[in-house]
Amino acid sequence: MATAKLSVDGRDIDLPVVEGSEGEKAIDITSLRKETGYITLDPGYGNTGSCTSDITFINGEEGVLRYRGYPIEQIAEKADFVEVCYLLIFGSLPNADQLAEFKQELTYHSLLHEDMKKFFEGYPPTAHPMAILSSMVASLSTYYPEDEADLHLNMVRLLAKAKTIAAFSYKKTIGQPFIYPKNDLDYCSNFLHMMFAVPSEPYAVPEVLRDALNLLLILHADHEQNCSTSTVRMVGSSQANLFASIAAGVCALWGPLHGGANQRVIEMLEMIRDDGGDYQKYVDMAKDKDSDFKLMGFGHRVYKNFDPRARILKRTADRVLEQLGHRKDSLIDIARNLEQVALEDEYFVERKLYPNVDFYSGILYRAMEIPTQMFTVMFALGRLPGWIAQWREMRSDPGARINRPRQVYTGATERDWVALDQR
Ligand code: CMC
Repeated sequence: MATAKLSVDGRDIDLPVVEGSEGEKAIDITSLRKETGYITLDPGYGNTGSCTSDITFINGEEGVLRYRGYPIEQIAEKADFVEVCYLLIFGSLPNADQLAEFKQELTYHSLLHEDMKKFFEGYPPTAHPMAILSSMVASLSTYYPEDEADLHLNMVRLLAKAKTIAAFSYKKTIGQPFIYPKNDLDYCSNFLHMMFAVPSEPYAVPEVLRDALNLLLILHADHEQNCSTSTVRMVGSSQANLFASIAAGVCALWGPLHGGANQRVIEMLEMIRDDGGDYQKYVDMAKDKDSDFKLMGFGHRVYKNFDPRARILKRTADRVLEQLGHRKDSLIDIARNLEQVALEDEYFVERKLYPNVDFYSGILYRAMEIPTQMFTVMFALGRLPGWIAQWREMRSDPGARINRPRQVYTGATERDWVALDQR
């Protein structure tokens, strides 16, 4: 077995080297503290592998993303989102019977318990749908406690009901009646129907919208140990139930540096447009170290060449925008100019800051007339199978332990308590 030598306090220790199936190497420091008294310090975890995983492979330098070994480019071209859910969670592509059964399960479990509808009445109309999604997902555990249901059923329920919760949360904000799921519609069409239909007239889901949504959900489906997935694993490591763990993941995704960036991209483009369209001013602000302004939708911790998801979406966006008749959207011109700058400006080139998936997904969701506040919810719907697969993988690992990082304490050293009247 290969080892790495560490010299500390005049003593050499050998640490095992672990190699992944794609040749990625890691130094296993499990015995480090016991043998030396030292821990490692890695703020932001840029050099820390928190687990081994068979689910998703990323090579950030070369822009490679694979789910269970299949390249994202092939999956994006050929797959249905439900197939991708099956692949990620169960590890292999479903055959025709397995797929039909899984689709049926996801269709038949999409209704919410009628009592859950009452929860929506309690939220203010301005409630952010990510807050609703997170609390509703956690609430599912009150209806389907882990010890009373089998895990497979709860995974199905979560995948099936999350889109109903998402669509209901939108209907709540615009004061329209909830539209129930229809069993003759596929996963993506069902969601779009619940979002855009009204009881007073028929609604046929446009194919171009269905296909665009299918692609977007697939591209969001998993991304190995990112902030929200690590959160799901972190919470799940205490043996918290599936719904509670995923509700925590939804909250982590909400942040603007993660999934929340897609909403912020459009808000940024609107701000630039309303300020006269001078995008260069905002590029300069993003480069200015005295300003905390960032170009939303640019940069990535892992991808340092290009984001393969963004590349696929960019190609699709042009076609879909044309089909949807949104070519004259002024935000799109601003977006294209920003993109051009990023590809040419020394600051962005030097730091390898490229448009990421959220840059193009924001533009596409807007063209699909998904409301801006719902963008991150769309990301969450796409990421659900990834979170579930990662949670399941962790929970079925017999060697899994509760996640409990350490710290280097930098606070006050021991001192005596000061009475209130002497402070
Ligand atoms: N605009 C301007 N400068 C940037 C940006 C940006 N969007 N992103 C990074 N930089 C600069 C940063 O200031 C730093 O400069 P310097 O070396 O001079 O200090 C350098 O680039 C490296 O950045 P970092 O902050 O060390 O990178 P990170 O890996 O910690 O953060 C990131 C990655 C995605 C959080 C960050 O690039 C960012 O905040 N981007 C905007 C938000 C965004 O689009 N997030 C969505 C990510 S993709 C979807 C997902 O998977 O979540």
